[in-house]
Amino acid sequence: MQGGDGDVSFDKNSFGAAAAIASSEQMLTSAIHSMELTQGVHIQIANLGIGDGGHTFSMVDTVVEVLRRKLAVINGGTEPEFEVYFSDLRLSNRFFSSFRPLEDRVNDWGKKYYTYGTSLPFYMRLFPKGELHVVVTTSALQWLSLIPRKVMEKGSKTWNKGRAWIQGAEREVVEAYAEQSHKDLVEFLKCRKEEIVVGGMLFMLMAGRPSGLESQVSDDSRLKLIFTTLMDQAWQDLVDEGSIEEDRRDAFNIPLYLRNTEEVTAAIESCGGFKIEKMELLKIADPMNARQQEFIKDPDSYGRAMANLVQAAQIKRKVEAYLGPDLTNTFYERYAVRAANNKEFLTKNSFYSMIAVSAIRVWY
Ligand SMILES: C[S@@+](CC[C@H](N)C(=O)[O-])C[C@H]1O[C@@H](n2cnc3c(N)ncnc32)[C@H](O)[C@@H]1O
Repeated sequence: MQGGDGDVSFDKNSFGAAAAIASSEQMLTSAIHSMELTQGVHIQIANLGIGDGGHTFSMVDTVVEVLRRKLAVINGGTEPEFEVYFSDLRLSNRFFSSFRPLEDRVNDWGKKYYTYGTSLPFYMRLFPKGELHVVVTTSALQWLSLIPRKVMEKGSKTWNKGRAWIQGAEREVVEAYAEQSHKDLVEFLKCRKEEIVVGGMLFMLMAGRPSGLESQVSDDSRLKLIFTTLMDQAWQDLVDEGSIEEDRRDAFNIPLYLRNTEEVTAAIESCGGFKIEKMELLKIADPMNARQQEFIKDPDSYGRAMANLVQAAQIKRKVEAYLGPDLTNTFYERYAVRAANNKEFLTKNSFYSMIAVSAIRVWY
């Protein structure tokens, strides 16, 4: 995810993630109400994979506020104190930008909760045993911990040749990703199982796909352009111009897997220790739909908006680490041109699928 304030920052391109959080707020609130809490004066919450978006902080505000009211009754009026831990990869590099929205909030509120941050990946233990009451993570778990080695084995059945992602790839390639996705989610859950108190709650919101859909994205999702068509065309442009070799293009893969609800359930059952309180597939209208008329009049601005969107997702850093800054700029210029010439979603509405799950930590 891209930090900072530029046009490609996550903050300026994260309307989809914000819309998903808004759509799941009701479910989060009712999951907190269903937690069986005993008296508590010291409550610990974690928000994992926070990005830069201020909207993840508003989600924490909701958790704190609902818990505060709930505990006021249980505690007979004694106000609990809240500690909130935030995590994201390389948070230390953008500590200021990530925590700035929080500073404003704390000043306005007169310190409603104490905050801490960690830069470690959430696929490992981050907290002591049985410490946390609520853990939330939004729009982050679709990112895998790594690219399965198999998809980079040249000439093998699992080789993802000519594609940056797995949409439209051979079955074996998709299966290699599915395997890694299962391992990662189980690992994530095992860590949280240790860290969350019995009776505590895990709330996960992740990009997903509808059940029964073999491919990763449906035809009404702009993601099929973002990570597939336009990505592959931009890489091919670099190859055709002689800027990179085919082999180099083939070795670039995006570590993204969109699960269905069955796959999420299988990981939760395989880990044990959690009871699914509710799981839903949310269909989120793509906020870019509202700009169709503007984009039809000015396709170049559509091209730039699409290039900004893909960079703001985790992709800019990955491409830059792979190609270096100069070629990365060329890559996104080609990407923007390809997007400007693609009319598919200029006149058609796009939707994202998100899976929302609330799970209660149980002792068995
Ligand atoms: C699309 S952003 C979502 C940010 C925010 N939660 C929201 O809903 O707007 C995904 C975030 O997950 C973080 N992330 C991805 N994999 C991670 C990992 N293994 N450990 C911690 N953070 C991770 C990325 O760095 C990125 O900031």
